[in-house]
Amino acid sequence: MCGIVGYVGNRDAVPILLDGLQRLEYRGYDSAGLAIFSGEGVCVRKRVGKLGELAQSLRENPIAGTGGVGHTRWATHGRPSEENSHPHSDGAGMIHVVHNGIIENYHTLKDQLQIEGHQFHSQTDTEVLAHLIGQHYRGDLAHAVREALQMVEGAYALGIICDKEPGRLVAARSGSPLILGLGEGENFIASDVPAILNHTRKIIYLGEKEVASISAESVEITDLEGRPVTRDISRIDWDASAAEKSGYPHFMLKEIHEQPQVINNTLRGRFDEDGVVELRDIGISDDDLRNARKILITACGTAYHAGLVGRLLLERIARVPVEVDLASEFRYRDPVIDEGTIVMAVTQSGETADTLAGIREAKRRGARVLSICNVVGSSIARESDGVIYQNAGPEIGVASTKAYTSQIVAFALFTVYLGQLRRSVSREEAMQMSAEIRDLPSKMRQALEQDGAIFESRDRYYLAESALFLGRGYNYPSALEGALKLKEISYIHAEGYAAGEMKHGPIALVDHSLPAICICVQSEVYDKMLSNIQEIRARQGSVLAIATEGDREIARHADEVVYVPEAPEYLSPVLTALPLQLLAYHIATRRGCDVDQPRNLAKSVTVE
Ligand code: AGP
Repeated sequence: MCGIVGYVGNRDAVPILLDGLQRLEYRGYDSAGLAIFSGEGVCVRKRVGKLGELAQSLRENPIAGTGGVGHTRWATHGRPSEENSHPHSDGAGMIHVVHNGIIENYHTLKDQLQIEGHQFHSQTDTEVLAHLIGQHYRGDLAHAVREALQMVEGAYALGIICDKEPGRLVAARSGSPLILGLGEGENFIASDVPAILNHTRKIIYLGEKEVASISAESVEITDLEGRPVTRDISRIDWDASAAEKSGYPHFMLKEIHEQPQVINNTLRGRFDEDGVVELRDIGISDDDLRNARKILITACGTAYHAGLVGRLLLERIARVPVEVDLASEFRYRDPVIDEGTIVMAVTQSGETADTLAGIREAKRRGARVLSICNVVGSSIARESDGVIYQNAGPEIGVASTKAYTSQIVAFALFTVYLGQLRRSVSREEAMQMSAEIRDLPSKMRQALEQDGAIFESRDRYYLAESALFLGRGYNYPSALEGALKLKEISYIHAEGYAAGEMKHGPIALVDHSLPAICICVQSEVYDKMLSNIQEIRARQGSVLAIATEGDREIARHADEVVYVPEAPEYLSPVLTALPLQLLAYHIATRRGCDVDQPRNLAKSVTVE
């Protein structure tokens, strides 16, 4: 996610903005910039790379001024570069904008502005916004912003200044958070509390589709139509560390709970005017997708588990043959791939060495490469022919949570799109599935309400020496992922297994000391899962079942049940992942483990 800081007051703005951006570094970024009201109008300075590059430039060539906006960019449109860095300006260099979010209709707006003679220098959606605001400017910046935003679809948190209104800061938000900080003779805006906590603890959470016009002495909030809005002032009692985690004790728990919003961002801009999945500009032509003879998915760890779900989706719905390989195995197995193969790399970081080596091998053999990735401009994103970006924001916790569910949703979107191209999915079916996919964030919010119940259950499991995770069908990968989550943050040995395999060996493990987590949601394999649960209970094993809300049968067989909302089976892994993540988290914290940075692990495995 990008970071925004703004300041108007009587102090030197540059150090305040740089300090604020530094406190937002945890959000991840690839470039930074600021725009300052200085004697001769507004000065803009941007640098690719870390904040130190920008700070160095400002030491060598200072900018004096008592107001401005600053930004750290997490690229979503356009690779990391100076021209794509924020702030972005209109053609006259009068309006300067910093933005966090995704403008869904920026192509349409940009086309129209270009017809009217506007020239653009970046690949970003934000630059379009600067031109749009400049086009509406008639001497009142807040008014111009309101008018421009009425034409915009998508998510934004904005800081805007204009060289004709020194000392005036305009902020606006829809879908991306933005706060106002109230000082004495000075005021602030920021994407998140840590940026301004050392200046003020009095903040206003700007509401949806609200615009704030801010000077050193005043804050006026309106809706997009210009009607005044009154917002309460909140007092923040967190310390700086808690503030970075939005009050959660760990980044991992914050990232578990932000998944509904993350999936909203993964879905953003991916439906046509009828609400049916449409993937534009993924970098591989519809013909190549339509004519692919095989898809081969390659990934590591959690991303591999997402790939296993992806195979089931693509084969069962898009009716295309799919193989899945661990990246570390793929490159050595001399795979049969050619120009008729599409290789899909799944990777949050885009830097995993095994996965990168895999796609290089695939390209060498003539395959097209389409990646599902969370980092714009990462090595794998750059070397792929096409990318479906997850737009999940940086994942700080080493144990992958929101990246996993956003990867599955990316596969679901791709499946519906590919199914339409290959005529294995009718328009009506695509409409139905698109609606089911859009329902996921609200169902995820319901599933996360089980957090307390799962917390209560941790005492029953935290001393276990081993655990078994069982699933079938779409939730066999969920069992693998649940086991990985537990073992990597609690250090309890855990094994994920296809439940149907129990009788072929693993059932010998079952006794009173072995907890089994069984994913038993409503599905075509529900009865078989129930039988597996009964087999375990008959051998004194304890069972925690993850089941579908409304299932009254399961409680008669499992020791404990955690419910997830009803959903089509093909989307259920997105929901069953949540209690599995929470269970691992609460057991690990009960054991006193460092859940954000587990021993021996790195967030991105850039070595083979
Ligand atoms: C996930 O919890 C693990 N930390 C790890 O398995 C991770 O999924 C794997 O290293 C792949 O990383 P990537 O998605 O960045 O390629």
